[in-house]
Amino acid sequence: MDIFSIEGPTRLAGKVKVNGSKNSSLPIMAAALLAPGKTVLKGVPRLSDIAVLENLLSTLGPKVERLENGDIIIDATVVDNPVGEYDIVRKMRASVCILGPLLARCGRVEVSMPGGCAIGDRPVDIHLRGLAELGAKISLKNGNIVATAPQGGLVGKDIFLGGPFGATVLGTDNVMMAAVLAKGTTVIEMAACEPEVADLANFLNAMGAKIRGIGSPRLTIEGVKQLHGIEYTVISDRIEAGTFMVGAAITGGEVELDNCALGDMMAVVDRLRNCGVCVENNNGGCIVTRTGEIKAADITTQPYPGFPTDLQAQFMAMLALAEGNSIITEKIFPDRFMHVAELNRMAANLRKEGASVVVAGVKKLIAAPIMASDLRASAALVLAALAAEGTTVINRVYHIDRGYEKIEEKLNAIGAKIMRQAI
Ligand code: EPU
Repeated sequence: MDIFSIEGPTRLAGKVKVNGSKNSSLPIMAAALLAPGKTVLKGVPRLSDIAVLENLLSTLGPKVERLENGDIIIDATVVDNPVGEYDIVRKMRASVCILGPLLARCGRVEVSMPGGCAIGDRPVDIHLRGLAELGAKISLKNGNIVATAPQGGLVGKDIFLGGPFGATVLGTDNVMMAAVLAKGTTVIEMAACEPEVADLANFLNAMGAKIRGIGSPRLTIEGVKQLHGIEYTVISDRIEAGTFMVGAAITGGEVELDNCALGDMMAVVDRLRNCGVCVENNNGGCIVTRTGEIKAADITTQPYPGFPTDLQAQFMAMLALAEGNSIITEKIFPDRFMHVAELNRMAANLRKEGASVVVAGVKKLIAAPIMASDLRASAALVLAALAAEGTTVINRVYHIDRGYEKIEEKLNAIGAKIMRQAI
């Protein structure tokens, strides 16, 4: 198991290139199952979550290969084992995104039901409800979801896909991937509008699907008979970008981000500017600078285009050092606060009240041994450690490797002092 030793405080200054999006790549790789033939994916980051899905896809029949130039080739000519095994699926909840494409391609799918998760209860009831609306029969057998399409295949329908916390990203993906090969027209009302969902829809259309309303809460999908393999580049990772932006802000630095879609990050940019951070557009990227104090700001996470839950922890680390008090409220995953206790170990002053955290700004953070608990919480701890006085040791950094490619190398190249050690 690896640990990070992070010496602080440091100031980040320089240029970093943002990777392709993890949360676009995962469903897009799964969608490659829909097209008999070869799909070439460009820009897919080298992450442990991606490796889990590569492995899972190859157990279903396709040949999956990562070339030296980074391209992933998925040859889905054969998909003959539509069974997502527990031993692989349990490593990553997003494995559930094979449900829709396998059901559409094979007429039957069995996938281990995802279990609990550090960021809270994450049911898949809405995914299943949507697939059932398309005609699938769904049951639970020995901890596995078993879904079977009717004799003549899935049939398009008008489906309302909202839940208690709004739209669902992977739920929308699953129903959309199943509907592209269904007979007739499907309308998904209250579809998730996240850029990653739009990226998947654009990918499916490039493969021959007919999806309209991309990026809006109403998707209209006319079923087609067959899709074909294509070459496609995934969009840039707005959460990795946001993490580096907070890195610049929390260290009083100046960071230029390359390959960053600022137009997909308006809520994030708005909050940064509110905190006194300067964010400027710069040819397909941006420059983020902070010179004055960090100002307190209230943040509420919401479905896109609202503020993303995947940047809540990182902003909390930054606001811990703000002048004044902030309130951060989680409206997507009300229990996603595992980082609160760890940040308090670093002398932050955070008080959790239900689904909110009151952040009383402190003058400085102080290094401590701390524990990563989930992907974005770990990113927040790394950011806090960059600004803290002393050497912070972060345990269980495998959580961060799930979603950030070589984060220590990227940060060290712009002034951080992070050492990875195997223990
Ligand atoms: N929900 C239900 N029932 C469902 C599905 C979701 O009640 O059947 C609830 C969830 O419990 C949550 C809300 O709906 O309260 C939204 O969850 P959503 O389904 O949108 O989450 P997801 O699709 O499982 C994706 C990202 C997450 C990101 C969320 C929210 C991927 C692979 N994962 O998860 O990313 O936090 O959307 O934006 O795309 C991460 O990258 O660190 C991460 C956790």
